Amino acid sequence: MLKKQFKFEIIDYLNDKELNEIIKLELKQKNISNYSHDQLLEMNNNSSINFIKCMSNNKLIGYLIFFKSYDFYEIYKIYVNNEYRKLGIASEMISLLGNKDILLEVDSSNLPAINLYKKNNFYEYSTRKRYYKNGNDAILFKKER
Ligand SMILES: CC(C)(COP(=O)(O)OP(=O)(O)OC[C@H]1O[C@@H](n2cnc3c(N)ncnc32)[C@H](O)[C@@H]1OP(=O)(O)O)[C@@H](O)C(=O)NCCC(=O)NCCS
Repeated sequence: MLKKQFKFEIIDYLNDKELNEIIKLELKQKNISNYSHDQLLEMNNNSSINFIKCMSNNKLIGYLIFFKSYDFYEIYKIYVNNEYRKLGIASEMISLLGNKDILLEVDSSNLPAINLYKKNNFYEYSTRKRYYKNGNDAILFKKER
């Protein structure tokens, strides 16, 4: 059971503070696929792309970026600050997406993320060979409602 100190919220639009925080966190993630400043601005202005944020003591410690279609969601990014990992925060954000099919793709070398998705009942349905800039494959996962 997650501690009460964590507050989760689904939002359509990030305010400037939240957006800048996510831009900073994305830029720091050098070894996994990350979004640029311009991509994040564009996502924030796209009404089909929403966010889940996790706050602790007014600090943003985790987020999930997702595309919503009428019959499925696609997770674009999920991130939890280092010191708050392995507490169930990412799993909780996934569960907040609710009752639709969920799609995503992940770098085949990202074992924490692959384990996270398997633990949350996603299954592998395809692979894109050498999809990422680093030459790694992308694994496509799906969770059915
Ligand atoms: C992947 C990530 C979001 C997981 O967040 P988290 O809040 O720690 O995940 P949870 O606590 O909900 O973990 C659920 C399960 O995921 C798996 N998992 C999480 N971290 C793991 C790790 N470091 N090594 C192996 N498995 C891991 C475990 O099966 C875990 O269950 P358990 O705690 O019972 O063993 C986090 O490590 C992260 O932000 N990584 C950097 C960004 C990233 O790679 N995002 C995914 C690609 S977009």
